[in-house]
Amino acid sequence: MVEITLPKNSKVEEGKSWPRTAHATHLTEFKIYRWNPDDGANPHVDTYYVDRDNCGPMVLDALIWIKNNIDPTLTFRRSCREGVCGSCAMNIDGTNTLACTKAMDDAKAPIKIYPLPHQPVVKDLVPDLKNFYAQYASIEPWLHTVTPAPEKEWKQSHEERNKLDGMYECILCACCSTSCPSYWWNSDRYLGPAALLQANRWVQDSRDEATGERLDNLEDPFRLYRCHTILNCSKACPKGLNPAKQIAQLKKALVDRQV
Ligand code: SF4
Ligand code: SF4
Ligand code: FES
Repeated sequence: MVEITLPKNSKVEEGKSWPRTAHATHLTEFKIYRWNPDDGANPHVDTYYVDRDNCGPMVLDALIWIKNNIDPTLTFRRSCREGVCGSCAMNIDGTNTLACTKAMDDAKAPIKIYPLPHQPVVKDLVPDLKNFYAQYASIEPWLHTVTPAPEKEWKQSHEERNKLDGMYECILCACCSTSCPSYWWNSDRYLGPAALLQANRWVQDSRDEATGERLDNLEDPFRLYRCHTILNCSKACPKGLNPAKQIAQLKKALVDRQV
């Protein structure tokens, strides 16, 4: 039998348990992944106790509370704190989601928090999404036209505009792509559900005049066809979108143009 030995520094160790706040009566326990590229130590999981009587209701509130009151070195991304920017995506209680829209009461304590899976880690809960953004850029997410621009706007009927529903709402949080097994194994060549949903957003746009080139760009055994319809992506999307449906629409567009 083949024995696989992982590098020593890949083992996640038990970390520090930080003291509870004196006199707090309503505490929630958190187990949070920590890794600092500068100290040479293995990743570890630290334990914190959040004083719920002095903290907002969301997991992001708890992270901010920990940073302000216990451990200023805890590192995570956030901006809008209302499910719009996508920057606070992380793995909470075993599911990729947004920390700002996940209520602590909806997670099982101790609440376990890890960075989005299968991405390099910059520090603590911050994943390196360079590849994810490069893949998004590769689908050229802007209007391509050859006809001269109209004096005012490019027009769409209500029906044409409605075709973009379920796609334009994507906030590029990466929860879907980082929950997709095909993306875990082939993220160097497979575009993943987020970039493919965005690709379809432009293929379906009635104003775009590069549909053929966009489809050519996807006709490849890896870029699109690594999707095996496992549907983790649609389960994970915190905005309630269905990337698997958009991928199926892209595959259909490729078949339709051959008949
Ligand atoms: S449906 Fe496709 S994109 Fe979504 S999780 Fe499955 S393989 Fe990944
Ligand atoms: S489809 Fe949903 S999960 Fe995927 S990047 Fe967009 S908003 Fe995030
Ligand atoms: S902070 Fe913007 S989506 Fe959570």
